[in-house]
Amino acid sequence: MALATGLAGKAALITGAASGIGRAIALALASEGAAVAVADRQPAEIVVGEIRARGGRAHGITADVSDEHQVVRMVAEAAERLGVIDLYVNCAAGTWHEPVTGVTRQGIERTMATNLMASVFAMREVARHLIVAGRGGAILAVGSTATASAQPRETAYRASKAALKAHIEVAAVELAPFGIRVNLLTPGATDTPFVAGASATQRSRALREVPLRREAQPEELAPAALFLLSDRLAGYVTGSELVVDGGLRLRPIFGGSDEELRKLNLQGEAAS
Ligand SMILES: NC(=O)c1ccc[n+]([C@@H]2O[C@H](COP(=O)([O-])OP(=O)(O)OC[C@H]3O[C@@H](n4cnc5c(N)ncnc54)[C@H](O)[C@@H]3O)[C@@H](O)[C@H]2O)c1
Repeated sequence: MALATGLAGKAALITGAASGIGRAIALALASEGAAVAVADRQPAEIVVGEIRARGGRAHGITADVSDEHQVVRMVAEAAERLGVIDLYVNCAAGTWHEPVTGVTRQGIERTMATNLMASVFAMREVARHLIVAGRGGAILAVGSTATASAQPRETAYRASKAALKAHIEVAAVELAPFGIRVNLLTPGATDTPFVAGASATQRSRALREVPLRREAQPEELAPAALFLLSDRLAGYVTGSELVVDGGLRLRPIFGGSDEELRKLNLQGEAAS
């Protein structure tokens, strides 16, 4: 059985596509032959240039997705420039870390506007477009393993990603009759500017918790995105969450060091 994605000729809008995971998904979609609208708050020329240099079709859109009006304009511009939208990837997000006793209205509102409301409004616009076009479609939102384990100072971020997941599930149910699939791709620790604020010590301590003992590269999320966006590969998958986290969400309490796990499995000694 051939495993080609069948995404050639599709038109995709991706937010947060100037960097990290969004950029990797945009490049991967373009290499599958999809035309892509690369949307971001920061200039997307570099990614657009990379795609065009490889012979792909790309259009850059500058939009701050925390603003509903800019979201509406972004979707309209993508539809106009690409002719149609078949695929939507909601990847843009931000983190504003605040302790429980220091939560501010600004932090909560900025986080919710960027991580949740942007997706809600974009999906409203994209879904209307897809329903009218009548040729099905696929929507993908990028979640976080923050929903699986609580971290200090992540009240707003964790709540935004949990609500995003809830929204995706409702949209999957409502849009299924139109042949529109809606799924969630959940990364764990991924080596992007998103985690650049953490110190080297924090990052290496965190990595000891990851069963695969390393961060993902953003390119390692792209195949999972292609799978979920492909009707050919995932035509019966909707309302699902695909976790690509090196096992992070399992976080074993008595996980054991590398050496303990080696002993346990090769010599039958219990790790303690
Ligand atoms: N990197 C990780 O460890 C990690 C872990 C779990 C989930 N995620 C999720 O992955 C997604 C992508 O993050 P990343 O790691 O690639 O980070 P990144 O910083 O490399 O990319 C995020 C992009 O979103 C854009 N963006 C942020 N706010 C925006 C706004 N208001 N309007 C438009 N664009 C905006 C940024 O300009 C940036 O280009 C996010 O949804 C994030 O929550 C990342």
